[in-house]
Amino acid sequence: MIKISIIGTGYVGLVTGTCLAEIGHKVICQDNDKKKINILKNHEIPIFEPHLKKLVINNVKKGRLVFTDDPIFATRQSEIIFICVGTPPLKDGEADLSAVEKVSHLIAENSSSYKLIVEKSTVPVQTGMWIDKTINLYNKNNIEFDIASNPEFLREGSAVEDFLHPDRIVIGVQKKRAEKFLKKLYHPIIEQSFSYPIHKNCKYSEKIPFVVTDINSAELIKHASNSFLATKVSFINAISDICEKTGADVTKVAYGIGLDSRIGKKFLNAGIGFGGFCFPKDLQAFIRISEKLGYEFSLLKEVEKINENRIKVLINKIKDHLWIIKDKTIGILGLSFKPNTDDIRYAPSIKIINELKREGALIRAYDPKAINKVKEIIPDIIYCNNSYDVAKNSDALIVVTEWNEFKNLDILKIKSLMKRPLIFDGRNMWDKEKMINEGFEYIGIGR
Ligand code: UDX
Repeated sequence: MIKISIIGTGYVGLVTGTCLAEIGHKVICQDNDKKKINILKNHEIPIFEPHLKKLVINNVKKGRLVFTDDPIFATRQSEIIFICVGTPPLKDGEADLSAVEKVSHLIAENSSSYKLIVEKSTVPVQTGMWIDKTINLYNKNNIEFDIASNPEFLREGSAVEDFLHPDRIVIGVQKKRAEKFLKKLYHPIIEQSFSYPIHKNCKYSEKIPFVVTDINSAELIKHASNSFLATKVSFINAISDICEKTGADVTKVAYGIGLDSRIGKKFLNAGIGFGGFCFPKDLQAFIRISEKLGYEFSLLKEVEKINENRIKVLINKIKDHLWIIKDKTIGILGLSFKPNTDDIRYAPSIKIINELKREGALIRAYDPKAINKVKEIIPDIIYCNNSYDVAKNSDALIVVTEWNEFKNLDILKIKSLMKRPLIFDGRNMWDKEKMINEGFEYIGIGR
């Protein structure tokens, strides 16, 4: 059992702290947001993430997980300190590292014994070097410390599973001491030797690769990984535009290329583009970092451009079929940036709704989890309690997020409720032939 502190209890920090407690360590999760800490102390979770609430409650009960808003207490109590603070984009797209700098300074000034400081937030390459410099600058008690990079590969909506059963664990270190310490920390996950709190029946047999490299390489693995995944998505979206011009079917093209083991099936679902707080932000940051390093990353700029253009592609389809959008009632199914999360950051739904509102459309919208968050920024549209209510008297229905519950809707009931059976399936969620046979005007993406 190792004593760990998590500085910054957001999406990454809360999942990291809870899962490290789950595998047997003693964890303090700290955040400056007193409201968030109070919610957590009351056994509530400020984000929707499957399995997380159960794990938080179990580990708080076992005394392995505590919450505090006091960063000095958190610093002093632990040997390993994970920096999980936000690195949001600045106006020019560069990552704002001020919180990382502040935490590094605080750790240096308030530590009186050895510390292993681990950057888990997504940070530009060479941030570890700056943390090292900052600690040395303010190392009041002249403590021994090590810096490490341990990037997260957590997908929202499956973050707990991704942490406990990762494809790989990556660490970037300068010293053997830090490598040994992190190997000990992650041992139960490397060996998959803990009792599974989720998916009890399936066995994760093979060991998890534990990648040890230098700090700069570990930081680059994160940005390169997300950028490559985003590139796959924009690539298949570009192919979908070509499919529309040739009468091909992008889902069949994606299937055909994905069977090549060098390409792989995942992240080839054409649609209205990627959102979330990672891909758009990390892409921008990586482009800016590269520029500062003297490399013009034009490939990633094109990935971004294709993604931004997806909204226009959808709006043009709507105009081609509705002609006039003004005063038309348009139903929106799904608001979160992807299924199984309530996160609406960089969600395509926000841009789509604002564009349709600008054209004078009347909007009805539903999402299983994200309505409250959208209401805060777009209060003046109609929010419904279910998909059928959205369909009522609508001139068109748009699938923006492919929640599972939409896949099982009674589509004949949907059709009976709509003024016009016109569907824009922004995620190619429904079976095109079936929808057309049931009498819908069905418009998908790339098919
Ligand atoms: C991503 C990375 O996957 C994860 O490793 C990293 O740590 C954080 O960023 P996340 O942003 O939560 O995770 O979602 P992800 O499942 O990767 O999807 C990102 C976006 O791509 C979503 O908007 C999704 O709708 C879109 N997407 C994904 C597609 O449009 N098509 C696909 O085939 C896959």
